[in-house]
Amino acid sequence: MTTAVIVGAQWGDEGKGKMIDYLAQRADMVVRGQGGNNAGHTVVVGDEKYALHLIPSGVLYEETVNIIGNGVVVDPKGFLQEIDGLKARGVKTDRIFISDRAHLIMPYHRVIDALSEEKRGEKKIGTTKKGIGPCYMDKVERTGIRMTDLLEEDFEALMRARIQDKNEIIEKLYGAEKLNEDLIVEEYLGYVERIRPFVRDTGVMVHQGLLEGKKVLLEGAQGTLLDVDYGTYPYVTSSHPISGGFAIGSGIGPNRIGEVIGIAKAYTTRVGSGPFVTELEDAIGEKIRERGHEYGTTTGRPRRCGWFDAVMVSYSARINGMTSLSLMLLDVLSGFDEIKICTGYAYEDQVIRDFPASLKVLAACRPIYETLPGWHEDLSGIRDYDGLPLNARNYIQKIEKTVGIPVKVVSIGPKRSQTIVIDEIF
Ligand code: GDP
Ligand code: IMO
Ligand code: MG
Repeated sequence: MTTAVIVGAQWGDEGKGKMIDYLAQRADMVVRGQGGNNAGHTVVVGDEKYALHLIPSGVLYEETVNIIGNGVVVDPKGFLQEIDGLKARGVKTDRIFISDRAHLIMPYHRVIDALSEEKRGEKKIGTTKKGIGPCYMDKVERTGIRMTDLLEEDFEALMRARIQDKNEIIEKLYGAEKLNEDLIVEEYLGYVERIRPFVRDTGVMVHQGLLEGKKVLLEGAQGTLLDVDYGTYPYVTSSHPISGGFAIGSGIGPNRIGEVIGIAKAYTTRVGSGPFVTELEDAIGEKIRERGHEYGTTTGRPRRCGWFDAVMVSYSARINGMTSLSLMLLDVLSGFDEIKICTGYAYEDQVIRDFPASLKVLAACRPIYETLPGWHEDLSGIRDYDGLPLNARNYIQKIEKTVGIPVKVVSIGPKRSQTIVIDEIF
């Protein structure tokens, strides 16, 4: 297969950045198709750690073309800061391209993101406050500004009209202070010439690449349970982080998507609000958080931790058409006498095995666990599947059986070398 989609099978932060970087050694192109700089993808090369937010995780290979597709929302300030940060570390940034159809995040998007969260009070989503939701709202409402607009003559007039409209909302709906129109215009006009060289019709580039037999990796951000249709709505992001999202967000036909690789942690984490059936608000959850360094890459917030939820990952497998799973951070689970897998939800007097739409139902669900013996060996230096402790292998097999998808990669550390490939996937 010449294309593979990497999707998050849970609530994000599953280790997608690590897997993209690992697979990108064989890719010609890496393409982002949704989300924006709400993402935080960590790539570790030797002793160097990179946190990528908007720039695709193939950037550390000099030959790989990295594309920010039309479905992505782009904060020019964040983008240029990331470019400068990478350049300062000696990373080449001349193979990065942004779709001319991608939408632009404006300062009012960030401000409205923060104000609407404040207004929600107790019911806040816990967004990253990067302006993602408000930018997608404008896109759908048809008042967004696209990369192609940024390069056109009337960009200033367009910006001024939009800022004036948003200032009305900021002042009248939220009772907050208006934004300084001239300052925003000056800032954004300053980005035009810096951004111009990156902008292309990237859909044509990807299509051409596929015609030439190039290997294309589609890099999902967030995770299936944060999808605006399939996630724990309204505690979701405003895009489609599932495999189908790429048919829209990267400009290639759905029939071009080959492998669908689900990235799942060997346990579960979540940042932000919303129900979490297997959450552990106890010493076990704390131990997982500390062992896994579970603090957000983008916001630094502590991540909520819990056992592996096979109901949720089975749902993800179905929604994405997953062809395999990569099981990440298995090393973090060393040191437990027992490990649990949630195989069903108890709801009133029923057992639910399909992820429910209703958050009221989900919040009332209690996990039905199967308990497996744990292991105490350090996994981080193991390089082949047979070298894993028997109980770790049994745990992997239990996941495969419950989710119904083969685990083809096991990750036992953040580095490229800490990757056990059971069966080649790309
Ligand atoms: P992403 O958003 O899906 O790319 O994931 P993040 O980068 O936000 O979070 C995953 C974290 O786990 C990062 O700090 C990675 O360096 C780290 N990581 C990835 N794979 C492994 C692994 O197998 N073991 C351990 N211990 N850490 C890992
Ligand atoms: P990566 O790509 C984990 C969560 C936020 C919040 C919700 C909505 O690193 O896996 P938003 O700012 O998108 O409107 O926030 O989505 N969220 C993520 N959680 N990983 C991410 O990205 C996330 N991107 C957004 O915490 O709950
Ligand atoms: Mg992340």
